Amino acid sequence: MAEIGIFYGSTSGTTEEIAEKIRELIGEDVCDIYSMEDDFDDVDDLLKYDYLLLGCSTWGAGEVQNDWREPLFDMEVDKPDFSGKTIAMFGPGDCDGHSKHFVGALGLMYDQFKALGAKMVGFVAPDDYTYEKSSAIRDGMFVGLPLDEINESEKTDERISSWLESLKPYFPAIAT
Ligand SMILES: Cc1cc2nc3c(=O)[nH]c(=O)nc-3n(C[C@H](O)[C@H](O)[C@H](O)COP(=O)(O)O)c2cc1C
Repeated sequence: MAEIGIFYGSTSGTTEEIAEKIRELIGEDVCDIYSMEDDFDDVDDLLKYDYLLLGCSTWGAGEVQNDWREPLFDMEVDKPDFSGKTIAMFGPGDCDGHSKHFVGALGLMYDQFKALGAKMVGFVAPDDYTYEKSSAIRDGMFVGLPLDEINESEKTDERISSWLESLKPYFPAIAT
């Protein structure tokens, strides 16, 4: 088993591509990757890892991607213990077409995993983003890495590499 678990939910393949890119950048030997649709059985899959990178796109109006819904619901009921786990999140959205709910899924995921005791890291300043509203902001920061492959795909590589750099103090496997 690798040190980091990457878990992603993706409806049209965007989060999947990003998750694979992140894995390639960090190193395939230190990251296992799970599609929430195809590979995820239950919360024990997540709990195997002390270091987690969670990918979730936003659908509906600020809602989590479909494959995360049931697992998050189950966790809300069962309240598994994520203390001792370090989690950073990433997720694509649409800052133009869905400007009032930009990457809202990250906010929902953040509240839930924080309540379960996880150490949440990988916040991103909103300065480089244009949107009307987002429920993924806490204390003036996005609680994960927002990406936008529809309007700003040219910024994605740089955003990912700065974010990975910012994770180094928290993820030993990324620092080496
Ligand atoms: C019906 C629909 C609803 C969406 N709702 C939102 C939203 O509320 N907020 C947002 O930032 N993006 C929203 N998006 C944009 C998606 O998050 C974006 O296309 C993303 O890249 C999809 O990633 P995936 O293919 O990995 O699921 C929506 C897209 C569609 C088609």
